[in-house]
Amino acid sequence: MTIRHFLQFSDFSADEYGWLFARAAIIKKKFKAYEKYHPLADRTLAMIFEKASTRTRVSFEAGMYQLGGSVMHLTTGDSQLGRAEPIEDSAKVISRMVDLVMIRTFGQDKLESFAAHSRVPVINGLTNEFHPCQILADLFTLLEHRGCDSQGKPDPSFLKGKVVAWVGDGNNMANTWLQAAELLGFTVHLSTPSGYEVDQAVAGIRSPDSYKVFKDPMDACRGAHLVTTDVWTSMGYEAENEERRKAFADWRVGTDMMRVAQPDALFMHCLPAHRGEEVDADVIDGPQSVVWDEAENRMHAQKALMEFLLLGKVT
Ligand code: CP
Ligand code: NVA
Repeated sequence: MTIRHFLQFSDFSADEYGWLFARAAIIKKKFKAYEKYHPLADRTLAMIFEKASTRTRVSFEAGMYQLGGSVMHLTTGDSQLGRAEPIEDSAKVISRMVDLVMIRTFGQDKLESFAAHSRVPVINGLTNEFHPCQILADLFTLLEHRGCDSQGKPDPSFLKGKVVAWVGDGNNMANTWLQAAELLGFTVHLSTPSGYEVDQAVAGIRSPDSYKVFKDPMDACRGAHLVTTDVWTSMGYEAENEERRKAFADWRVGTDMMRVAQPDALFMHCLPAHRGEEVDADVIDGPQSVVWDEAENRMHAQKALMEFLLLGKVT
C-alpha cells in the first residue's frame, strides 16, 4: 500500500472527506454506546510536540487507545529533536518503530521533510501554515448540527454554496479553511486587519473563487452559515502580542456580528479562546456556539483519520 500523509487539507479528495465524515459518525456512535472497537490493536502512534497542546494531545492519545493501539509522547525538550538531530534522521529512526506519526511544529517545511523520510503515515497536528485536523473536526461538527441526511449520515453536499465567515488573523486556521472551501464547494468570507491578510500562495489554493475579502468584519458575517475566529496571537508569534492587540481590536466576534449572520448560524473557535479579545463571552458561551462539540469531535474525526491512514476504507 502506498503511504498516505495528512500534511494539509488538500492532501485528500472530496470523496475521501465524505468517507471520513461518515466513519467519524459511526466511530462516535460506537464510543457513545461503550462498544469496544479495536481495529488498531498493536499499532503505535508517536506524537511529537514542538508547541503546546491540550486538545490535540488528549484527542489523539485517547482516540488511539480507544482504537486498541498505544501512544508515545515526545517533545523537543525530552528528545534529541531539541538537540539538533536532523529531522530526516529522526524520521528514519522513529518511523521504523511506530506505525503512525503526528507532529505539531513550526514550519510546514519541517513536517514535509519528516514525511519525505518516513516509512509510515504522518499527520499534521498544526504548523504555522495549516491545522487540517481542526478543520476536519469543524466540518464534521457543522454537518452533524446542520447537514445530515434523513438517516443521520453527514452529507457533504450540504456544504455547497454555504458561507463561512472568518474574523481575525490570516493564520494557519484561515489558510486551512480556504483549502477546504476550494475542495468542498463553500465560500469563506475573510476579514482580517490590514497587515494580517491571508496569502493565497501560502494557503496553497489555486484560485480566488472560493473566498471573498471584507474590510469590515460585520460585512464578512452578513448571511454567514458559520462564524468562526481564532486567537489574535498564534503560538510562535508571542513577540508580536502587543502590536496585535492594537491591530485586532475591531476583530472581536460579538452578538452584533452573530445577529447579521443567518438566524441559525453557528459559532466555532478551535480553542483555546480569550474571552474579551477575539470573542465576547456572550457569543462563545451563547446558544449559537458549538465549541465544546467541536473540541470533542477532534477525537472522533481523528479516529476516523487514523483508521483510514492505516487500514484504508474499512467495511
Ligand atoms: N485546537 C487545538 O488544536 O487545541 P490545542 O492547541 O489545545 O491542541
Ligand atoms: N492559530 C492557533 C491555533 C491554536 C490551536 C495557533 O497556531 O496557535
